[in-house]
Amino acid sequence: MEKRWSSKFGFIMASAGSAVGLGNLWKFPYLAASNGGGAFVLIYIIFAFLIGVPVLLAELAIGRNGRKNAVESCKMISPKWGFAGLMGVICSALVFSFYGVVGGWTLKWLFSSFSSDIFSESFFSVYSAKSFEPIIWQAIFLLICAYIVIKGISDGIEKYSEISVILLIIFLAGLMIYVFTLDNISESIKEFIFPDKNTFKLSKTTLSAMGQMFFSLSLGMGTLITYGSYLSKDTNLISSTFAIVILDTLIAVMAGLVIIPASINLNTGSLNDNPGMIFQTLPQIFSKMKGTKILCLFMFLLILLAAVTSAISLLEVISSFLSDKLKLGKTSSVMITLLICFILGIFASLSFGILSEVKMLGMNIFEFITFLADNIFLPLGGVSICILAGKKWGRENLSNELSLGTGKILSCKMLTFILNVLAPAVIIIITAVNLYEFFS
Ligand code: PHE
Repeated sequence: MEKRWSSKFGFIMASAGSAVGLGNLWKFPYLAASNGGGAFVLIYIIFAFLIGVPVLLAELAIGRNGRKNAVESCKMISPKWGFAGLMGVICSALVFSFYGVVGGWTLKWLFSSFSSDIFSESFFSVYSAKSFEPIIWQAIFLLICAYIVIKGISDGIEKYSEISVILLIIFLAGLMIYVFTLDNISESIKEFIFPDKNTFKLSKTTLSAMGQMFFSLSLGMGTLITYGSYLSKDTNLISSTFAIVILDTLIAVMAGLVIIPASINLNTGSLNDNPGMIFQTLPQIFSKMKGTKILCLFMFLLILLAAVTSAISLLEVISSFLSDKLKLGKTSSVMITLLICFILGIFASLSFGILSEVKMLGMNIFEFITFLADNIFLPLGGVSICILAGKKWGRENLSNELSLGTGKILSCKMLTFILNVLAPAVIIIITAVNLYEFFS
């Protein structure tokens, strides 16, 4: 039977479950801290509404119109545009490979909540530099995702996402209130609200904010085309899109408001703006509280849930493509995907230790994979979606699809202008300026 969301709320929560993940909790705080603080946050929010909302609307509309996987739905609009979906599949594989590494760290922290290890300041750098153990946890994380997808439990994704997103908001709100009561916290909060001149550079900050926006909203690689294909024609895509973007942005900003001020405050003025930031800062916060260990365990459980609901949406995109192309069963296509991403992920993991000296364009392997995915493939995927929806499909078709479920006839003039002109221009200029600066 064709898959359908049980309700509009279920669809919004499942999409939010894909969007809300390590991007919001692990990545947003350290990117903001290393790219201009409040300036990054402001630029990120502008991008989320100016470009994120139109691209998300376009992806959902393409998916609901096509009713097929990402590649086939793109082809229904223009037969030569299957490559837009293919690019998405390649990018999903890149993202999934480093997602496995960070998912593995999350599992390790979850299982270490009752030992005193993770509460020591240097634990992250010592642990991530190890060769063997992080790879084992990475494999366990990937196997959990594979099990969920193969067993078809991911069909119940709406339920898990509802629980994890709502609990995450409540828990982050509690932590925020706690952090705001720490001594001398107001100075540290300013770092998140006001621009930090030392780490701000217009070209780099805008590129990072744009790449992060695509990554965090799961855009530019077909995930939401697939989710859109399970929608009924009476769902209002516009209000759903705003709900998803607002939820995702809210959780990222809340995570930033917890992690950045706490990191400055608890490290006596210095900021841990590296991929280990959340893994160092959260235990530091909990070690100041009563009931430390159980709260720490619960927090890392929520992070794990958020990571898994995002990771399975990535795994579904790649494995369903492989099973269509190679005519493989679900288990084989999932296991092949897993193997490829696991091997790539091993190199990413080792780049914190024995491979730390291996550099590509001045970046280590982990940084290089995230750079390729967030700053090149995702924005390019975004441009393809814009052109496919705005130019190839055209305003009339787009507005017919988007008007369904709203009770109105929408003109979509502004939307097509953004899709055809503004968004591609902004994405291409930012990417080109950065590449130019990079190679000159
Ligand atoms: N949006 C997810 C996150 O923020 C990552 C992701 C990207 C998931 C693309 C699916 C597709 O962690």
